[in-house]
Amino acid sequence: MADPRELQTREQREVDALLAGVPREPEHLLPALQLVQARLGYVPEEAIRTIAEAFNRSRAEVYGVVTFYHDLRLAPVGDTVVQVCMAEACQAMGCRALAEHAHRHLGVALGHTTSDGRVHLEATYCLGNCALAPSIRIGDVVHGRVTSPRFDALVATARSATRERTP
Ligand code: FES
Repeated sequence: MADPRELQTREQREVDALLAGVPREPEHLLPALQLVQARLGYVPEEAIRTIAEAFNRSRAEVYGVVTFYHDLRLAPVGDTVVQVCMAEACQAMGCRALAEHAHRHLGVALGHTTSDGRVHLEATYCLGNCALAPSIRIGDVVHGRVTSPRFDALVATARSATRERTP
């Protein structure tokens, strides 16, 4: 297992490299955070400090942005993030039952990560796919008209894809 200090240094180098090409105008603060999130899977403390300095903001301000946006995370989660839409259109089409199925299938409640660290399950609110509700997102891909069996198949596919990428 990697030394946490070495990991921090590596993340800091990645954050520095990511931010090298980002303009420092205020409108680029959120894209900078999204870039870090996309690369590392979360926004570490080092990135908040670096971005605060780069954009001439306080750490509290940057922290506030991270906590405001649901898709930005302060801590790492599972390799695969599964989001179940719990907004109105999906509720009308049975997302509560789908979320309960997801809970049973994965053995974790919404907002938690499976014990093997592979899958993080969470609620989200409208994936812009209301016409095909109920919807989920796995990684960057939105899936519509998701039934319980389809949920299981999609998660299994995502798990095996992650396993192939992980040494
Ligand atoms: S309400 Fe679920 S995708 Fe819009």
